[in-house]
Amino acid sequence: MSLQIGIGLAGLGTVGAGVYKHLAQNRALLVERLGLELVVRRVVARDLTKPRAGLAALPPASILTKDWRVLIDDPAVEIVVELLGGIDTPLALIRAAIAAGKTVVTGNKALLAEHGQEIFALASAQRVPVFFEASTAGGIPIIKSIREAFIANHIVSIHGIINGTSNYILSRMTAEPGLDFADALAAAQAAGYAEADPTLDINGWDAAHKAIILASLAYGFWVPADRVFVEGIEKISATDIHFAGELGYRIKLLAIIKAAATETGQAGGPIEVRVHPTLIPKTHVLASVSGVFNAVAVRGDVVGETLFYGRGAGQDPTSSAVLSDLAEAAFALRPANEQAPDAGADLRRRCYGFTPHGLYGACLPLEEIVSRYYLRLAVDDRPGVLAQVAGALGAHGIGISSVVQPETHDAAGRAQLVLMLDRATHRQVNAALAEIAALACVHPPGALLRVETFGS
Ligand code: NDP
Ligand code: HSE
Repeated sequence: MSLQIGIGLAGLGTVGAGVYKHLAQNRALLVERLGLELVVRRVVARDLTKPRAGLAALPPASILTKDWRVLIDDPAVEIVVELLGGIDTPLALIRAAIAAGKTVVTGNKALLAEHGQEIFALASAQRVPVFFEASTAGGIPIIKSIREAFIANHIVSIHGIINGTSNYILSRMTAEPGLDFADALAAAQAAGYAEADPTLDINGWDAAHKAIILASLAYGFWVPADRVFVEGIEKISATDIHFAGELGYRIKLLAIIKAAATETGQAGGPIEVRVHPTLIPKTHVLASVSGVFNAVAVRGDVVGETLFYGRGAGQDPTSSAVLSDLAEAAFALRPANEQAPDAGADLRRRCYGFTPHGLYGACLPLEEIVSRYYLRLAVDDRPGVLAQVAGALGAHGIGISSVVQPETHDAAGRAQLVLMLDRATHRQVNAALAEIAALACVHPPGALLRVETFGS
């Protein structure tokens, strides 16, 4: 009989049920590849009897429990898999698991974004690995790639479509003009893509949590949430999707992570982390990433451009990421179980999860972030209006690269003025917008969106 590694599965929802299902379905493959067997010893849920999406039968009643502490107290549980969602209970569970010397696997990006620094400090102090591949971009192995494949690279930039729900909604609104936002969201929820509270998907914070994780791994310090610029897709209108399309762009909720070079040209300058609806040229590969798919473009100083693509949410892709962590976690535990504790020590040391270092450490003040912009204004249709708007922009040093004013008017008889602006800081644009909003010829609502041209 092969060596058995005991798992405590906390959560039997969308992802937890998927992990349980695929552990059983691909058991023989995992045994062949790992030389050991992953055995679920305990399963935690709130409701122990309700049917579970993806599972033909519930786990045996003997291993089901409502109390996560059972996982900590059971010596047969060596790996704790946290798939509960939320913050307080998962944090208590992970703290207790680390204290008990149990390996942790989690997909909880909200928890890591908020408490990653503490969790990885505890993990490192206790020499307990914490794995979190499922936390970012679903089935795409982006965490392992940044931690391992790009270990010798300074990360120059990361551009990611990393929220499946918002990408699904924007894709549907682009393909089906007039589609109700609420209907597109309901479809994403029914498919199991959305968070328990879908507000986080819509307001940009789910993507921001993932961006914090990616940026922290890339730059070696845990990025505080208040240093991240975040805007959601709530205000994206069919009008802006239409105008963006006419101008040659698609609108995507994009995470942008960049490091500036220092004054001497060395890596190590301040970093910027932002998530916002972004106009992307239709010709750029990220513009064609549709539906629940995610994509992450990573540029390293050694490797150059790389691109990762795959399903970013849902039961099966997310389970795949959890199972890969489980396999690595179990493999790292194997030597200890086989009474050869030193053989796996190096691997385990490398796998505590996050290695802080001092090569970077500063975030660019949000007001200093530079971008190009799309500005749409509802204006009176009379001579001199464009000159007033251009004057306010010019007074703050912002150039205009193109202007479109369709001949059609809105229901109130106003013209739509769409301006593409040159590169400017948030500070410049906010100051100019305050002046423009005060003009008698400009009427709410308008729209200000950022444009990313990927260095071109
Ligand atoms: P669900 O809400 O579908 O599942 C949560 C599970 O945890 C349920 O089985 C629930 O039990 C159980 N649970 C929650 N709180 C408790 C508690 N206090 N005590 C006992 N059981 C509890 O969430 P998901 O599976 O969608 O997500 C799980 C985690 O994975 C989250 O952190 C999420 O952000 C992350 N994630 C989700 C992805 C997705 O596509 N869904 C993708 C990537 C990451 P019950 O069902 O009985 O209520
Ligand atoms: N709600 C998340 C999304 C799940 O839509 O991307 C995957 O992290």
